Amino acid sequence: MKGSRFSNRLEAIPPSKLKVDFSLTKKEGVISLSIGEPDFETPFEIEQAGIASIQNGYTFYSDGAGLPQLRKAISKYLDRHYGLSYSSSDEILVTVGASEAIDIALRALVNEGDEVLLPVPSYISYAPLIELAGGKVVAVPLHEDKAFRLQAQDLENAITPLTKLLILNYPHNPTGAILEPKDLAAIAKVAVAHDLLVITDEIYADLTYGKKPCSIAAYPGMKERTLYISGFSKAFAMTGWRLGYVCGPSDIITRLKKIHNFTLLAAPTISQFAAVDALEHEEEETIKMREAYNARRLYLIEALKSMELPCFTPEGAFYVFPNIAGRGLSSDEFVSLLFSEEKLLVIPGTAFGEEGEGFIRISYAYSLDVLKEAMKRLAHFLKAHPVR
Ligand SMILES: Cc1ncc(COP(=O)(O)O)c(C=O)c1O
Repeated sequence: MKGSRFSNRLEAIPPSKLKVDFSLTKKEGVISLSIGEPDFETPFEIEQAGIASIQNGYTFYSDGAGLPQLRKAISKYLDRHYGLSYSSSDEILVTVGASEAIDIALRALVNEGDEVLLPVPSYISYAPLIELAGGKVVAVPLHEDKAFRLQAQDLENAITPLTKLLILNYPHNPTGAILEPKDLAAIAKVAVAHDLLVITDEIYADLTYGKKPCSIAAYPGMKERTLYISGFSKAFAMTGWRLGYVCGPSDIITRLKKIHNFTLLAAPTISQFAAVDALEHEEEETIKMREAYNARRLYLIEALKSMELPCFTPEGAFYVFPNIAGRGLSSDEFVSLLFSEEKLLVIPGTAFGEEGEGFIRISYAYSLDVLKEAMKRLAHFLKAHPVR
C-alpha cells in the first residue's frame, strides 16, 4: 500500500466537537438539553400512512428522484407556504434527510480549492462536508449585537475571486436567529452582484415564532442560483424516517440526481408515503408542536432573564444561545462543570465553531417540566459561579 490507509481529506478533518456522549444523557438523574431532536412522536396519521404503505406492498425502490406524488406535494407545499415555485418534474429531488441534500449539493458544486462562505457559528455538518468536497471554508462571523443575522457588508468583505458558494441556514442552528426581508434583500443583492451560488438550509422554516418566514430563493435573481434544502425531521417530528428534499434549477438538480443515483438509489419508499400524508393533511400537527415550542421558548427567555444570564431572543428553530462570557469560564469549562456539579448537559458554543466561544446552546426540544427542573439547576450553578 502506498501512502495512508485512509483518505487524506478525511484525516485532515477534526472529529466533531459536538461533545455529547449520548450514554451520559441516559444516566440516572441527568437532564440533557443537548439534542436538537423533537421530543414529540411522529403524528399518528403520518405513522399510519407509513404502516399502510408496507401493508399495501409498497416496499420497493421508488423513482430515484422520489415518488411523483411526494414531489408534487412538496411543490404545492412550498408554493402555499413560501411562495416558491418548483416544478415537480425536474426541480425537486427527495433525499435521505436534509443531510444527504447538503452533502450531494456540495459534492456537485464545489471544485478543488473553491471558497465556500460559511456564516459562523454554524450547524456542525457544513464545514466538514465542504472540506470533504475539496472546498475551502471561509468563515463569515455572525454577531450577537446584530441578532446573529448575516450582514451583507461582512459577506461582501469575505468575497475573493475564488468564492463560489454561500451557505445560509435560517432559522439558524445554533442561535435560533431568523432573517427579515431587508436582510435577505441585501444578501441577495451581494449574491447576484458576485455571481454566487447559494445553498439555503431552511429545515426549521416551519418553526418560526410570530414572524412569517421568508426564503432567499424568492428574491429577484436568486431562484436560478439557489438550492433550497428542507426536510421532515423537525417540523413533522420525523428524524428517524430520514427524509428531506432539495429544490433548484434543473441543471443543478440533474447533477445531484447523478450522485444520488450512484450512492442511495432512492430515499426510503415507506417514509415517502408517510411524508405525502404529512404535507397534505398534517399541518395542524405542526402548528400544535410549534405552539408548544413557542411556550417553551418564552419560558426559557423569562427564566434566563430572571437569572441575569444575557441571551439574545431567538425567533426560530428550538434553541437558545445564552452568553456565558464573564463568568471566568470558557464554554467548554462551563459545560463540563455544569454537568459535574448539576448533572445538566448542554452544548458548548465552540461545538459550532470558534466563534461560539462565550456561549452555550440549550435545546428546548424537551418538555416544559424538564426545562423547569433544568433551569433550577442552571440558576443554582450560576449562583456558585457569579459574574467576575
Ligand atoms: C440546520 C440543520 N440542517 C440539517 C439537519 C439534518 O437534518 P435531517 O435529519 O433532515 O438530515 C439538522 C439537524 O439537526 C440541522 O440542524
